[in-house]
Amino acid sequence: MTKWSGTMGHYCTSRALYSIQDIAVERNHIHQPKSRILKMIHIFFYVSFLFFSSHAAVQDFCVANLKGPESPAGYSCKKPAEVTVDDFVFSGLGMSGNTTNIFKVAVIPAFVPQFPGVNGLGLSMARLDLALDGVVPTHTHPGASELLLVMQGSILAGFISSANRVYMKTLHKGDIMVFPQGLLHFQVNAGAIPATAFATFSSPSPRLQITDFALFGNNLPSKLVVKTTFLDLAQVKKLKAALGGTGRSMT
Ligand SMILES: *[C@@H]1O[C@H](CO)[C@@H](O)[C@H](O)[C@H]1NC(C)=O
Repeated sequence: MTKWSGTMGHYCTSRALYSIQDIAVERNHIHQPKSRILKMIHIFFYVSFLFFSSHAAVQDFCVANLKGPESPAGYSCKKPAEVTVDDFVFSGLGMSGNTTNIFKVAVIPAFVPQFPGVNGLGLSMARLDLALDGVVPTHTHPGASELLLVMQGSILAGFISSANRVYMKTLHKGDIMVFPQGLLHFQVNAGAIPATAFATFSSPSPRLQITDFALFGNNLPSKLVVKTTFLDLAQVKKLKAALGGTGRSMT
């Protein structure tokens, strides 16, 4: 909850804290022996309230000043006088990106770097196109949950819980599926035509880590990748070559 999550989030959070605080205060009058614990709870919520208050929405929006650094709370705000309607409009999701790549996939992000108006608002979008046999390999968005809406074709989508349980289904036009924040997930074209979907993320900066690249597109010596993955050396070298890993010669 360290991120500034917009007016609504702040409002709801403050209200929830108020009501819990009120209950604590009421009980304090009735049960005197527990008063010390309740007083501590009271102080805890009071401090929490001050903490959340410091993130109060004091302006209508905070369009990203992309020239500055990105902090955990997002970018700093562009000067209001320099903000235009185009900061709140992203026009790039009307057409498929280029799916000529090993995954046969194109993703067009409308995250904060492309769409500065979402800064501080806790959401962003992307377009996903899967050519025939296309796949978004297993990946995570460390910073966001994802809602996927299928617009064309069929997509076999799934995620893997931290208990290693798979939740997987073939989605068709009009279906949406949610992928909880941080969990590994994938999307595969399961139809006979190209598939298109739109994804909404619960962060302006969802971030993306693709497991294949994390494991084999890095610069760990192949010998260590063999140790950490239980694959044999030839397979590791093949994957490193395909996924742009270095350290292949350091066996
Ligand atoms: C799509 O990407 C491929 C591979 O990078 C490239 O050869 C091709 O020209 C691109 N097509 C378009 C329409 O940009």
